[in-house]
Amino acid sequence: MASPENGSGKSLTGARYDTIGKGYNLRRRADPRIAARIVSALGGGQNVLNIGAGTGSYEPSDRQVVALEPSAVMISQRGVTAAPVIQGMAEQLPFSDNSFDAAMGLLTLHHWTDWQAGLLEAMRVVRQRLVLFSWVGYTNDFWLTDYFPEIGPISSEGFPTPEDIATVMGSFECVPVPVPYDCQDGFLCSYWRRPAAYLDPMVRQAISTFARIGDQESRLARLATDLETGVWAQKYATILDAEDMDYGYRLMTFEKSGWQA
Ligand SMILES: C[S@@+](CC[C@H](N)C(=O)[O-])C[C@H]1O[C@@H](n2cnc3c(N)ncnc32)[C@H](O)[C@@H]1O
Repeated sequence: MASPENGSGKSLTGARYDTIGKGYNLRRRADPRIAARIVSALGGGQNVLNIGAGTGSYEPSDRQVVALEPSAVMISQRGVTAAPVIQGMAEQLPFSDNSFDAAMGLLTLHHWTDWQAGLLEAMRVVRQRLVLFSWVGYTNDFWLTDYFPEIGPISSEGFPTPEDIATVMGSFECVPVPVPYDCQDGFLCSYWRRPAAYLDPMVRQAISTFARIGDQESRLARLATDLETGVWAQKYATILDAEDMDYGYRLMTFEKSGWQA
């Protein structure tokens, strides 16, 4: 692992995920359907930078991957087969121009201190393309916000819209990634058809939004009661037969050819 300093000399040991990232790898892992979409978006590029790599989910095993991650706690949860990791931040990538065929940033953009700078850095170090998997705003009502209304505003904070991104990056491809009903990853909307999962503290621990919600107990108790009495099933019956739902997750692909900062 490289130095625990970023280019500004600011220590990375206080990274937010050093606090909220404990136990992340117990509930957060690659969903194979989403993974296939990411690999396909990466194209033929053989050496890939994974920015905000966390514990290594979605790192393709058939490419040469280098991971970049600020949090020591997240780095400590990377498995023995995970890609080599450098401690650092998206905003100041410790690589020279055109070092990688491609870069990917998965469910990380909203955590960056300066997403504009991070995206420009990512495009600087790639030769071909950058692939982001990110959330851009609710495209369907998510029932969990009926129990935790603050999820809406908390979710929106830090997540740039495609229009915001276009002002910095120009044109790019942006395609919906519906969340399967049995999604193997454990991000915020993963359990949309498995409501009891949100009662599990380990599930909530692996979702950064919950770290910002106070007084969860009374709302969780209401959810538990609604599940027990059938109120939840009755109220949200329309989603119970769906195989997947579009809750605003998007795969964005930025091509280097013809790209200008
Ligand atoms: C929700 S986790 C996603 C991890 C991994 N990409 C995945 O899909 O499981 C967000 C990650 O972004 C990292 N992160 C936060 N700020 C960052 C920054 N400025 N530059 C790069 N990564 C950052 C966090 O430490 C954390 O590991």
